[in-house]
Amino acid sequence: MIKDREESLNMDEGEIDIQNRVIIFDTTLRDGEQSPGAALNVSEKVELAHKLEEMGIDVIEAGFPVSSPGDFRAVQQISREIRDCVVCGLTRAHRKDIDAAAAALEDAARPRIHTGLGVSDSHIFHKLRTTREEALERGVEAVKYARRFVDDVQYYAEDAGRADPEYLYRVLEAVITAGATVVNIPDTTGYTSPGEFGALIRSIVENVPNVDRATISVHCHNDLGMATANTLAGLLNGARQVEVTVNGIGERAGNCSLEEVVMALRTRQDLFGLRTGVDTRRIYPVSRLVSTLTGIPVQPNKAIVGANAFAHSSGIHQDGVLKERTTYEIIDPRDIGVPDSEIILSARSGRAGLRHRLTELGYTLDDDQFEKVYGRFLEVADKKKTVDTRDLEAIVNDEARVFFDETYHLEQVQVSCGDRSIPTATVHIRGPDGQSICDADHGTGPVDAVCRAIDRVIGESNELTEFSVQAVTEGIDAVGSVTIRIQAEDPVRENGNERRVFSGRGSDTDIVVASAKAYMFALNRLIAARREAERLAKT
Ligand code: KIV
Ligand code: ZN
Repeated sequence: MIKDREESLNMDEGEIDIQNRVIIFDTTLRDGEQSPGAALNVSEKVELAHKLEEMGIDVIEAGFPVSSPGDFRAVQQISREIRDCVVCGLTRAHRKDIDAAAAALEDAARPRIHTGLGVSDSHIFHKLRTTREEALERGVEAVKYARRFVDDVQYYAEDAGRADPEYLYRVLEAVITAGATVVNIPDTTGYTSPGEFGALIRSIVENVPNVDRATISVHCHNDLGMATANTLAGLLNGARQVEVTVNGIGERAGNCSLEEVVMALRTRQDLFGLRTGVDTRRIYPVSRLVSTLTGIPVQPNKAIVGANAFAHSSGIHQDGVLKERTTYEIIDPRDIGVPDSEIILSARSGRAGLRHRLTELGYTLDDDQFEKVYGRFLEVADKKKTVDTRDLEAIVNDEARVFFDETYHLEQVQVSCGDRSIPTATVHIRGPDGQSICDADHGTGPVDAVCRAIDRVIGESNELTEFSVQAVTEGIDAVGSVTIRIQAEDPVRENGNERRVFSGRGSDTDIVVASAKAYMFALNRLIAARREAERLAKT
């Protein structure tokens, strides 16, 4: 399957050496989405899948179909729309999981089932409560069963980083004999060091007799901050598929980050001698999109995509870069698609100027979305006089990146506060029946007062767990971007007890208004999820 894609890849340097081609397996939509509060809805996942496809990702792990109706529908929809990538669904080594994955992947051009179970004694004895032999047998059965539905079956040997290598070799040999096309070696707990992990991959190459019939994949977690180093060590020792997420999001400390591995391979081609099919100029826009959709900010000093990754603050460094960029920069920001922030617009730029700039930045908006963005653009231009790329990004995220029906719409917010007064907020909210409701409340501060006033109108029980403000641009008149997380009863879980996190975002030159928008966003998302759960329960 991958071979077909490789043969069709149009690479500069003539003949492609398949041995040197690294397959990029993106699991942002599965492992990445397991980050607390990152939950995406189906439309958001489909939009992201398209961006990953445009970027040249080889395999998209679109979800875990048996885990929830939403995950099933996301895998199904992505299978229907994505043509240039392998689409993969995760399962445990259970027939019902594999049935669900096979059904969700039915329309995929290139379906892959990713099944497996634990191989460390800790997983076998404590989690699975079984024996090594039985676990091996279950794994083999799962692969054989999955092969009834698809030709491409990937096997994960969970917690391989802490397993007895001799047992691991036996499991891998058996599942390859049973039909696995890819064997995934996860360092599930992020426990290993690069030297150890590289040696483990080398030992698999040397000790699993039929390993040449499968691709070795590496899946490293970042608990000790070594996910990227371990992944690269895996490649140096024979792995040819890497499992990564955009911005490194994922369980606990996250997964290996896509942008770090891809840029390490590209920047140090001399060292690794390996290549990917990724269009690196898509890295930055996709990183921004993932951060926007998940509500997980990128830390400023994050390698490759952090806000400071190309900032030079000391005079000596600035001087060096001005004289010759490569003095202190090993990557040209344009190679990862960092937009030119020098280009600014003003109210006089008009519709045509705004449309042109949005197109340059890779946004395709329909007419309705464009009109909303234009209206907000004029408001911001009026307040700030000039609007740069980051302001525009914040406006588009607010106005054109809402993938659910807004049940309640914030029409107006007014706050009174100060060191001698009780913070009080009044809000006007349009409800589902089109009526505008006005209410007011006070709080410990202006944001608290606004949230309480909104609660009086909407009445959705929840707990606000996180609130963060970031300036989108520099200066006192900057647009502020607020991210809010709320916790509420999960509408999808059948037992009704589990809580789920919903994130919301909003931006404005007034951070109290931005906070009100972010809170409304999270509440509308919660209400949309509840509606969807009710709809699914009826079908
Ligand atoms: O970390 C892990 O082991 C996993 C597997 C399910 C592949 O995510
Ligand atoms: Zn994982």
